[in-house]
Amino acid sequence: MSAISPARSPVESPTTSLADPLDTTAGFLDIQDLPGRFFVFEGIDGSGKSTQCYTLARVLREQGHDVIETREPTDGPWGRQLRELAQQGQRLKPSEELEYFVRDRKAHLQDLILPQLRQGSIILQDRYFPSSMAYQGSRGLALQTILSAHLGWAALPHAFFFLHLSPQQALQRITERRQVPDAFETLEGLQRCEAIFASLSLPHWFALDASQPIGALQQAILRIVQPLLPPR
Ligand code: TYD
Repeated sequence: MSAISPARSPVESPTTSLADPLDTTAGFLDIQDLPGRFFVFEGIDGSGKSTQCYTLARVLREQGHDVIETREPTDGPWGRQLRELAQQGQRLKPSEELEYFVRDRKAHLQDLILPQLRQGSIILQDRYFPSSMAYQGSRGLALQTILSAHLGWAALPHAFFFLHLSPQQALQRITERRQVPDAFETLEGLQRCEAIFASLSLPHWFALDASQPIGALQQAILRIVQPLLPPR
């Protein structure tokens, strides 16, 4: 069975069917019985993930929820090494790079995400395994290989928000923030990553137009999140 379906461009359209082309829900850790909720933001650099994560966290806290904001790569040993290498403009081999991200992610899940979900927290996470599919996939690794490295232990979030933005606009935003683009952020690289993100068809995957005003995007995300929240 293929990991990828043909490119779709549904905006606010989830792929929740168990019969979707991935058919991998059985390979993910089932967190549906835990009291917490797990939401993930995905997209290329500059797509606005951290702003949306932050604003959603504020709204949910105002509603009385316990919210944990987190991100990958993490600040743990594997994540730190990845950031340091990127800052130095060095790249590992794609398979080694995947290995580092997977080790970072496993520790993140065991040490933070699962314990917090058991306590009823709402986890808002900037990047997760679809980023490995997009970024390490853009370096030539097969998407099925990347996905398979996560089956058997990774939890499937209650929703993924893919913030869909043209690589040109993303690079413009990165430059406006006066950030020097890092080793991951060339136009060609962003184009390859965006194309992979746009081709993914994962369960609970919502593709949202990230070129719309921040407030409108926030409302679109809230409309999806609200019915998925635990009762207060
Ligand atoms: P990012 O969250 O953008 O970090 P920063 O806060 O330093 O901007 O992540 C750093 C880079 O790591 C980003 O360009 C995407 C890349 N990345 C991967 O290549 N694979 C992955 O699995 C993840 C999570 C990130």
